[in-house]
Amino acid sequence: MTQTIDAYTTISRVYRLMLNTKQFFAHEADIIQTIIRQEFSGRPLRILDAACGTGDVMSLLSADAPLNIQGLDGSQSMLSIALADPRLSGVSLSRCRWEQIGTYFKRYGRFDMIYLLGNSISHIQNVQALQALVNDCQAFLNPGGLLVFDIRNWSLEDGLLREKDRRPYSDDGEFSDGERTYHVSEKVGYDDETVRQVIEYEIVDGDKIHRPVVSYLMMLPEDALQLLKDSGFEARIHSRPIKYYWSYTVLVGKKLQANH
Ligand SMILES: C[S@@+](CC[C@H](N)C(=O)[O-])C[C@H]1O[C@@H](n2cnc3c(N)ncnc32)[C@H](O)[C@@H]1O
Repeated sequence: MTQTIDAYTTISRVYRLMLNTKQFFAHEADIIQTIIRQEFSGRPLRILDAACGTGDVMSLLSADAPLNIQGLDGSQSMLSIALADPRLSGVSLSRCRWEQIGTYFKRYGRFDMIYLLGNSISHIQNVQALQALVNDCQAFLNPGGLLVFDIRNWSLEDGLLREKDRRPYSDDGEFSDGERTYHVSEKVGYDDETVRQVIEYEIVDGDKIHRPVVSYLMMLPEDALQLLKDSGFEARIHSRPIKYYWSYTVLVGKKLQANH
């Protein structure tokens, strides 16, 4: 969604500051490391972070031992931060929208693991686009390969999808990179027609105020599992809702056959 990608142009200024504070990247890297240990028992892997953003999860994953990992993201501003990170020197990082991921795969070939974490995949436009993305990933995974993504803990409340335990306003936060201090607040709303959660940020940077808006497609974990199965994956929930700063569920699709 263009609006979401555009929103990350301003969010990118505070993204790493906000999430590092919460040890969020380390938490995500731990999820991927656990799945790798459980599923691949040490064999060499080709891994794609298909929503790499600022690249922090990739650099944590390759901190201890070199890993054959590459990243893509639709936002040039998020990617620029990854590209400037010395921990990622030599790592292939590309700007690519999920809608064009087939072109990416044609260039880079097959992977053993594709992951999208950090509430990324829910930015997708609608269920059809999500199914298309999942199908594209399925087609370019090696047999036995995994597609891993998280969704927030969406739940049905009076027949409407909502984020469990989410308050309409989050606490305001102040984040400093040593040179600049940013004041960030957010307001959470819901568009019941498009079944999306809508988050309006306010980022105060000196005398400038930015108001980026992002939105997330809401779907129940069982519907996401079905979508993986419809694409030919054996699908499971890796972890029941994780109660961290946010509560979310990690889903794993395993490709069983070379050609589905
Ligand atoms: C919440 S950030 C997560 C980044 C990273 N995975 C992390 O955990 O820090 C979501 C990312 O999804 C990317 N994104 C959203 N829609 C996209 C699309 N249609 N194609 C490619 N990337 C997209 C955004 O640019 C952003 O970097």
